Amino acid sequence: MLSPWPLVLLLLLLLHPHRSDGDGRLQIQELTIDEIQSAFAEGTLTSRRLVEFYLDRISALNPVVRAVIEVNPDALAQADRADAERTGLPARRGRGLHGVPVLLKDNIGTGDRMNTTAGSLALVGSAVRRDSGVVERLRRGGAVLLGKASMSEWANFRSSDAPNGWCARSGQGKNPYLLTADPCGSSSGSSIAVAANMAAVSLGTETDGSIICPASANSVVGLKPTVGLTSRAGVIPISPRQDTIGPICRTVSDAVHVLDAIVGFDPRDSKATKKAEKFIPEGGYKQFLKVDGLKGKRLGILRHQFFGYDKGSISNKTFERHFETMRQMGAILMENLMIANASAISDSFVSGESTAMLAEFKLSINTYLSSELTLSPVRSLGDVIAFNYKHKHEEQMDDIDQMVFLAAESTNGIGLNEEAALNKMRRLSREGLKKLMNEEALDAIVTPESGVSSVLAIGGYPGISVPAGYDEKGVPFGICFGGLRGSEPRLIEIAYGFEQATKVRKPPVFESKGHLHI
Ligand SMILES: *[C@@H]1O[C@H](CO)[C@@H](O)[C@H](O)[C@H]1NC(C)=O
Ligand SMILES: *[C@@H]1O[C@H](CO)[C@@H](O)[C@H](O)[C@H]1NC(C)=O
Ligand SMILES: *[C@@H]1O[C@H](CO)[C@@H](O)[C@H](O)[C@H]1NC(C)=O
Repeated sequence: MLSPWPLVLLLLLLLHPHRSDGDGRLQIQELTIDEIQSAFAEGTLTSRRLVEFYLDRISALNPVVRAVIEVNPDALAQADRADAERTGLPARRGRGLHGVPVLLKDNIGTGDRMNTTAGSLALVGSAVRRDSGVVERLRRGGAVLLGKASMSEWANFRSSDAPNGWCARSGQGKNPYLLTADPCGSSSGSSIAVAANMAAVSLGTETDGSIICPASANSVVGLKPTVGLTSRAGVIPISPRQDTIGPICRTVSDAVHVLDAIVGFDPRDSKATKKAEKFIPEGGYKQFLKVDGLKGKRLGILRHQFFGYDKGSISNKTFERHFETMRQMGAILMENLMIANASAISDSFVSGESTAMLAEFKLSINTYLSSELTLSPVRSLGDVIAFNYKHKHEEQMDDIDQMVFLAAESTNGIGLNEEAALNKMRRLSREGLKKLMNEEALDAIVTPESGVSSVLAIGGYPGISVPAGYDEKGVPFGICFGGLRGSEPRLIEIAYGFEQATKVRKPPVFESKGHLHI
């Protein structure tokens, strides 16, 4: 299945786990943004060298893990420009994402030579009108756009049975820790790529779980911002009520640097970004990277509803140990808390989420396809469905259905059913997370992996997933800190305090036997 050439390169690349190689040169693998900026300032690293490193990693690893759909043909030119801009400037640290290569989930629009397709063949050959709001900010800050990450096609809103990480354009994305394990999705490629050092940092999107789930499964940090904190303009939509764009990175600090670079008001997504703008702190989010960030924090451990692992399992013991660490770091753990109606919230057919999203998707995807693209072979959801039937044989897997598309296509705007669903979700949120957080004066709730995603999704609430451990087979799992709208500062303090106290993340090891079968 693999040609020997990428394999040889892969082994050469991967068998040097140290920060500097034999001749004392800087080792790029696992570098953080702070380290990259210091190395730029000291002249030991250029943006070009960094981009070349990641392009080599992509050539070597992508045939196996399929995390990247396209590389940006302009990435090296952007790196050269960043290097030229830096020359002559006073050496200083922390220049944001200037010169840093960023990988973008394939639903995030770029008005350049790259395609924006949500992983779908139907959008190949379309052209977006302009950069998405978040990409505009990245370009303005001098970031290098490295390429487009693979994803669960249409952010997992096409099919009821497509595997996580699969899309027709690039096939099946793989978990780099165990190739047969679920990489989760829909921001699968964004997570796999940063986990395997194929990019410095990446952007993902979440409607319900699509950042925190793949971050958890691939041992990286995923930050799902409050809805509206980051602009959704120019991003292929599912539900404007729930969609949000956020960082997926190897460290909390990197995720915070990326968050600082992409938040803010955008006239093209004015209502939501205006409303959330008040949450953005003076001086940005970096000030909340405090080693003692857990001190004095009141954490709601939703033990009975979300943990409940078997006693004796590795994850059970690991989480118990983490709770102990949190206490030692000064956090106050509130143990026996429950979110009212948590099981109703977690079932999208009961909560109303499914009813609302199907109608919202049809409305917003039709608007996107008809007005955001200057050129496109498809102009409506109906066109995409017809395209998929016609081009079934060109997809990289047989029998991927389009049940979700068909259900969405049969909706007819926001009617009585949808209004009732929206009201139900508002009530579930008000009587659920909001009530619990306020009554118990919590700073955050704590849950394993991405089990809490719907609680966060229906309220537009933020969450951050941090690496927490590896199971018996070496498959990663994360821990999630969630809170009310605008609570990013506290979530960052908690997540950073936890990460610094535990340091769970380790890069995946590709071996010629064991994980990588040839
Ligand atoms: C965009 O898609 C077209 C059609 O598949 C392809 O020829 C082109 O190379 C793609 N662009 C990039 C940057 O990969
Ligand atoms: C571990 O297992 C015990 C016994 O089943 C259970 O009470 C406890 O909540 C579990 N802990 C976690 C973190 O899942
Ligand atoms: C939520 O829980 C309350 C009390 O437990 C119950 O009366 C109510 O019907 C539940 N709501 C939903 C939507 O399930």
